[in-house]
Amino acid sequence: MILAGKAALVTGGFSGIGRATALAMAREGARVAVADVQEPGETVAAINAAGGQAIAIVADVTSEDAVSAMVARCVAAFGRVDIAFNNAGIAPRHVGPSGQRTHEMSAASFRGMLDVNLTGVFLCMKYELAQMLAQGGGAIVNTASVAGLVGLPTAVNYTAAKHGVIGLTRAAALEYATDHIRVNAVCPGYVRTPMTDPTMAVRGEYLISLVPARRLGEPEEVAEAVVWLCSDRASFVTGSAYTIDGGYSAS
Ligand SMILES: NC(=O)c1ccc[n+]([C@@H]2O[C@H](COP(=O)([O-])OP(=O)(O)OC[C@H]3O[C@@H](n4cnc5c(N)ncnc54)[C@H](O)[C@@H]3O)[C@@H](O)[C@H]2O)c1
Repeated sequence: MILAGKAALVTGGFSGIGRATALAMAREGARVAVADVQEPGETVAAINAAGGQAIAIVADVTSEDAVSAMVARCVAAFGRVDIAFNNAGIAPRHVGPSGQRTHEMSAASFRGMLDVNLTGVFLCMKYELAQMLAQGGGAIVNTASVAGLVGLPTAVNYTAAKHGVIGLTRAAALEYATDHIRVNAVCPGYVRTPMTDPTMAVRGEYLISLVPARRLGEPEEVAEAVVWLCSDRASFVTGSAYTIDGGYSAS
């Protein structure tokens, strides 16, 4: 129970990596506020059924008012926010041969992606950090991607957003390093979730051939790393971009 007594907030907790991480945090003893733009009641029910403690929050991370209310709701329920996993995100459309290169992408598509995948993380951090400063410490993990480390062709919007997540993770880690607040990012490779299902159906064999481990990751394998980064066992880890990618970015 490496998160015993901690109050956690997870965005994008309705499905995929966020859902698996909310469940893993609860198994490790945390009380979990599960947030998503879609009602995350099913994740909360699964946690409560397993003997954990969770609440559901509907919040769109692109709305500053909604994010502020989300953090306030977690504090109202649990008294604090020890751990925050800023994970909500959207996928690039039509990656691959049918995708759009940079000169073909609309400004709306670029801005829309940054709004959720980058500004959303900034807004969450802004309100979580204020709370963590007030309470004397905390740990934040942001979901970047291997697309935060290397370029993903026909997804310049997603690549820019995820590189940005690593940048704001590093800058914030430096700003709060002496405030007992750690800020890290995780960089998953291809993971089996509703986000990757459509792409895998069309180009699965090719994408798996790019992964040294020759398989997709499971959401639970990302959750393990996030739980550890949020725990006191990672007490000297801050400003890192931690890869969980079956070797993808090492090749
Ligand atoms: N699956 C992968 O292969 C992979 C790889 C690298 C990074 N990621 C990142 O992991 C994160 C989780 O993705 P996933 O694969 O679990 O996908 P997913 O689609 O299963 O989960 C994403 C969740 O985010 C929520 N969400 C979307 N927009 C939101 C908004 N504006 N406000 C609040 N919630 C919102 C969705 O409702 C959904 O529940 C994303 O940031 C994604 O970019 C995924």
